[in-house]
Amino acid sequence: MLIGVPKEIKNQEFRVGLTPAGVRELSAAGHSVVIESKAGMGVGFDDATFAAAGAKIVASAAEIYQQSQLLVKVKEPQESECKMLRENQILFAYLHLAPDPQQASLLKQSGAYCIAYETVTDRHGALPLLAPMSEVAGRLSVQAAAHCLEKASGGSGVLLGGVPGVASGKVLIIGGGVVGLHAARIALGMGADVTLIDKSLARLRYIDEVFNGRISTLYSNQETIEQELKKADAVIGAVLVPGASAPKLVSKAQLALLKPGSVLVDVAIDQGGCFETSRPTTHDKPTFIVNNIVHYCVANMPGAVARTATTALTNATLPFIMALASKNINALEEDAYLLAGLNVAKGKITHQAVASALGEKAYDAKSLLFQQWRKRA
Ligand SMILES: NC(=O)c1ccc[n+]([C@@H]2O[C@H](COP(=O)([O-])OP(=O)(O)OC[C@H]3O[C@@H](n4cnc5c(N)ncnc54)[C@H](O)[C@@H]3O)[C@@H](O)[C@H]2O)c1
Repeated sequence: MLIGVPKEIKNQEFRVGLTPAGVRELSAAGHSVVIESKAGMGVGFDDATFAAAGAKIVASAAEIYQQSQLLVKVKEPQESECKMLRENQILFAYLHLAPDPQQASLLKQSGAYCIAYETVTDRHGALPLLAPMSEVAGRLSVQAAAHCLEKASGGSGVLLGGVPGVASGKVLIIGGGVVGLHAARIALGMGADVTLIDKSLARLRYIDEVFNGRISTLYSNQETIEQELKKADAVIGAVLVPGASAPKLVSKAQLALLKPGSVLVDVAIDQGGCFETSRPTTHDKPTFIVNNIVHYCVANMPGAVARTATTALTNATLPFIMALASKNINALEEDAYLLAGLNVAKGKITHQAVASALGEKAYDAKSLLFQQWRKRA
């Protein structure tokens, strides 16, 4: 199959849909890859490296959209890109359609099969193409917290690892999912004193087991959170209630419990944030201060480490790209987890939650796509 990778055109997006290593695997499996010139420049993958891996470099996005059967991207297609999509092409990217009726309408008009990374599932009910970005954000959150604690950032001047004779800084992590677990790893690695709070006892048991008692785990309630805020130097907000806005777990009044110069890193800001005083920020100006507390609330944290994020993404997407390239849309019939990623097909919305959010009817993907399922329906 001919796979196309356009250069990302969304503002401040440096990632690219495939790494040279991914191109090499696809080429070795007999597929052809066309990449837009300079698509990987932002993350240090130049055209020559892609060409050496087997890709054909083309000058414009228009050529990519014209030639390819499968389009592999990072971010949702912008309006100009949606208009280049054609019937029966497959689009594989983060789409985030629920809050975006305009993109949904354009994708329906295209007649393409649109598979969203964020709704592909796995056998454990997890989201394997979202997890790499949560891993990146979790690890980065502590790096950001450490930087924000420096005096020049408005912080208290605490070094998370301490030094011999001086106590370590205290990191409080609220939410022990993918982000929280990876934040805990880095905080521990930096020598910080780490406490993790979650409302899932099963998850707390798992975290306790994994870290072998080297971090403290506590059950989430307001009493516990208040007690821990008094001790913390940095608080990482990493909660998620699937399908809902993040619960507000620290109010503006509760900021007074923290020491001046303490830091809040609200990773859950993309779901509205879990601190009352959070508001989304950008990499250009990542922090602001409320009541002497430094807030870091960047909504697309992985963008700061686009090279690592690109490679992590290709590692996760490549098996699915390989299946689509080999079997075309029949890969969807064979793999229910990949099928869960299908959001739009033949001009219809095929994902229940996306359809509900858009106030539209959801169509059954299998009976829409495959004759034998139509008969059974
Ligand atoms: N800002 C960014 O760039 C960025 C990047 C990746 C992920 N995220 C966001 O980070 C958040 C966490 O993602 P994740 O992949 O770790 O999710 P996850 O589902 O793996 O983990 C969420 C955890 O929060 C816990 N939780 C829910 N309510 C809680 C409460 N009241 N108190 C304590 N714990 C609670 C859950 O039990 C679960 O363990 C999400 O909002 C996600 O969208 C943001």
